[in-house]
Amino acid sequence: MKGDRSMRYIVQPEIRISRINRNIYGNFSEHLGRCIYNGIFVGKDSPIDNVRGMRCDIVEALKQAKLPILRWPGGCFADEYHWKDGIGPLPTRKKMINTHWGGVVEDNSFGTHEFFDLCEQIGCEPYVNGNVGSGSVQEMSEWVEYMTMDGTSPMADLRKANGREQAWPLKYFAVGNENWGCGGNMTAEFYANQYRRYQTFVRNYGASRIYKVACGPSDADYRWTDVLMREAAHCIDGLSLHHYTVTGTWAHKGSATDFTEAEYYKTLERAWDMETMVRTHAGIMDRYDPARRVGLIVDEWGTWFDVEPGTNPGFLYQQNTMRDAMVAALNLNIFNKHSDRVHGANIAQLINVLQALILTDGEKMLKTPTYHVFEMYKTHQDGDLVQSAAATGKLEGGVPQVTESASVDAEGNVTVTIANMHASKAEKIEMRLDGGRYELVEAHTLSDEIHALNTFDEPDAVCAKRYTGAACTYDAMGTEVTFDLPACTLTLLRFRKV
Ligand code: AHR
Repeated sequence: MKGDRSMRYIVQPEIRISRINRNIYGNFSEHLGRCIYNGIFVGKDSPIDNVRGMRCDIVEALKQAKLPILRWPGGCFADEYHWKDGIGPLPTRKKMINTHWGGVVEDNSFGTHEFFDLCEQIGCEPYVNGNVGSGSVQEMSEWVEYMTMDGTSPMADLRKANGREQAWPLKYFAVGNENWGCGGNMTAEFYANQYRRYQTFVRNYGASRIYKVACGPSDADYRWTDVLMREAAHCIDGLSLHHYTVTGTWAHKGSATDFTEAEYYKTLERAWDMETMVRTHAGIMDRYDPARRVGLIVDEWGTWFDVEPGTNPGFLYQQNTMRDAMVAALNLNIFNKHSDRVHGANIAQLINVLQALILTDGEKMLKTPTYHVFEMYKTHQDGDLVQSAAATGKLEGGVPQVTESASVDAEGNVTVTIANMHASKAEKIEMRLDGGRYELVEAHTLSDEIHALNTFDEPDAVCAKRYTGAACTYDAMGTEVTFDLPACTLTLLRFRKV
């Protein structure tokens, strides 16, 4: 230890723990507010640059962040969505009221074909959520047939008549959403039986192999996990977990931008609850599935604040600050560290809703601080999590002041993401990279005051910047790296073995 103010941080690339499934970096797009309509989908006649209605600037940004998977069409919307209303010629598509989200008219102009087109444009995996709450077994079964059946069948023929010859490569399919709440208010036992029945008819056509996601628990509802695993683990591939970071109460969640330092720490404390939940749900799953075949899919997570003043309360539009970026860094490090069980996660949501990566205002768009976190973490995708630990102190509620994770890619390159959650106290890090000589090939930081944000007038006020302050020295056993970690900062370091 060279100076007593430095924090020791050890990374051991030779100790590999588990594969970090790229789907941990997934996102969620619901028919809610301005996520789909007036978000990603502006329609092909829009003056905004688009390809078949999808905004080019947003598609480009999502490619840049390497978005691996996108969940659709909900959320609560999924359990009242009838997919046949969203196919065929536009003028014939039924209009409905989106009862969950603002009571607006849903004209079904964005449906199954448009969703797959969007995923193809982004280059990401589609993840479709079926309707158990108000849909029939037949309806769900026919949707899967429509999407994945090649050759001749009633639904494959209907798809072809609607202009799509080939089946789509759909892998991920969820059998209901929040069926303990908006998806039907079911008991765990009742849903477990429903799941067993519905999933029977989610068929694999040809070479298609569907990964079936069962509705899992809300937050710390450990009983739900226990019942689902006991009754249905044999036919579940993934079990979802939904946990939002709510700082106050559901009635008074607080402003996304106007908060005290005490509220900043309270938000981190609530976000850190994810660690306990993942650990505890995973422990229950271990009892029924010690081989960890069934993935815990955290398919809704993120901050949930009061909507921006003057906006529709049903649209869940909130701004996004460095506080959100720190929440994202904390959660992504938790998911990486538990990647032996967490096989996927989808932050809520993609655009203009909750902890969004992108905000739009007419033709203007901005990347939020949360976007930059995802962009910085992208080289963890499909890497191997390796042993790492920082000698960090704790903030209130046991939140580690410094959170980190490290991975190795197929070529042996090391990615480290390390964040100082403290609002005002900087750290100096003395990092030990064991097992040889590594050269630093990339260093970026996202660093600002806790309230800092991007606006449509200043869209790049907060963004990742190149960092030049890291220094490497070598000894016979490894590499020593020293760098500064200012308050409220995320740093990405990438190393190549030499
Ligand atoms: O993401 C917003 C909503 O939160 C989703 O529709 C629902 O699944 C959850 O309660």
